[in-house]
Amino acid sequence: MLKLNVDLGERSYPIYITTNYDSIAKSIQDARLKGKLVLITDTNVEKYQANDCISAFKGSGYQVEKFVIESGEKNKNLDTVKEIYHFLLGLKLDRNATLIALGGGVVGDIVGFVAATFLRGINFIQIPTSLLAQSDSSVGGKVGVDFEGSKNIIGAFYQPRFVYINVNTLKTLPKRELQSGLAEVVKHGIIKDEEFYEYIDYNCEKILKLDEGVLQYLVKINCSIKGEVVEKDEKEGGLRAILNFGHTIGHAIETVMDFKLLHGECVSLGMIGALRMSEYLDIIDNGTVNKIKNTLEKIGLPTSIQNVDVDKIYDQMFYDKKLIGNKLNFILLRKKIGEVIQFTVDDEQLIKRAIKSLKESL
Ligand SMILES: NC(=O)c1ccc[n+]([C@@H]2O[C@H](COP(=O)([O-])OP(=O)(O)OC[C@H]3O[C@@H](n4cnc5c(N)ncnc54)[C@H](O)[C@@H]3O)[C@@H](O)[C@H]2O)c1
Ligand SMILES: [Zn+2]
Repeated sequence: MLKLNVDLGERSYPIYITTNYDSIAKSIQDARLKGKLVLITDTNVEKYQANDCISAFKGSGYQVEKFVIESGEKNKNLDTVKEIYHFLLGLKLDRNATLIALGGGVVGDIVGFVAATFLRGINFIQIPTSLLAQSDSSVGGKVGVDFEGSKNIIGAFYQPRFVYINVNTLKTLPKRELQSGLAEVVKHGIIKDEEFYEYIDYNCEKILKLDEGVLQYLVKINCSIKGEVVEKDEKEGGLRAILNFGHTIGHAIETVMDFKLLHGECVSLGMIGALRMSEYLDIIDNGTVNKIKNTLEKIGLPTSIQNVDVDKIYDQMFYDKKLIGNKLNFILLRKKIGEVIQFTVDDEQLIKRAIKSLKESL
């Protein structure tokens, strides 16, 4: 089992990376968690993963209560939070209880939010089962739900006691979800670590075939990159913004396309848009843009999109900006893979040209 540490003072925690659920009980002991355990999962993950996971707890003498929520982003809301509160109240939990989030980013974000707020905060652990959750959402402590059409608008920063990653859970994840999660992994390479980017590019086939060894290494380097950014900027004061590479345009496409495309697919398109912007600003060469485009295509991610309305996407970016009260900032690649800068762009023509370029498979 591989182990990493996210160093956040008294909120520090380990991330375990392994190929089964066998060490879950030991991880609970090491974290000195003594109260009741309540596992919360969604309807899909319950079908494929919950039994194995709960058996591992039971095999070590732990009793686990289970609650299943409906899968899907549309359930990431306060109604689901309320359902969970009701269930927890019925169990008469005290503050020693621990919630276990078994699932993708939706489960992790909701359960983390419930843990942050129930009894003013109880322990929670993450057992992420989608690649997006294993490589992005389970690390960093951002938890929350959507509200009246706005994504992640209600939430908190609340760190888990540990993250337990069994890479073999990816065997039951739909392939399109796996590919979508890889967009964030490629993103981490692009913003911080050229060598890691090259590793992903070289190993695309093995990754898609779910080679255990490659996946464990992939998740480890990936979490260490995200963990390092979070250690330096837990509450998104500055540096953490680089994680938004590809997301300014990506989020707008996600909304305008009415969430028909997966998040990672939109991030893939958003990264290409941001890269083109770097190219037009002459801070990156065309070869680098094509190289990254090629990697994303090998993975099976979209790099162009025909039926988008450039003006709508542009306007949506401004709407998002108003919502979060920020200027229209872009994270742009400069000179080489692994080096990004934060850039405030107010050149409408440039931004629209970058969005428009997504309509052509250049
Ligand atoms: N907190 C953060 O920092 C952060 C970062 C990025 C994204 N997010 C959030 O994460 C969410 C997206 O996460 P996601 O892509 O994991 O979505 P998700 O949780 O909806 O999972 C995707 C789909 O795969 C299913 N699934 C998950 N694991 C499975 C498995 N092992 N086998 C079979 N099916 C499985 C789920 O039921 C779901 O249908 C969004 O709500 C997003 O806002 C949060
Ligand atoms: Zn993302």
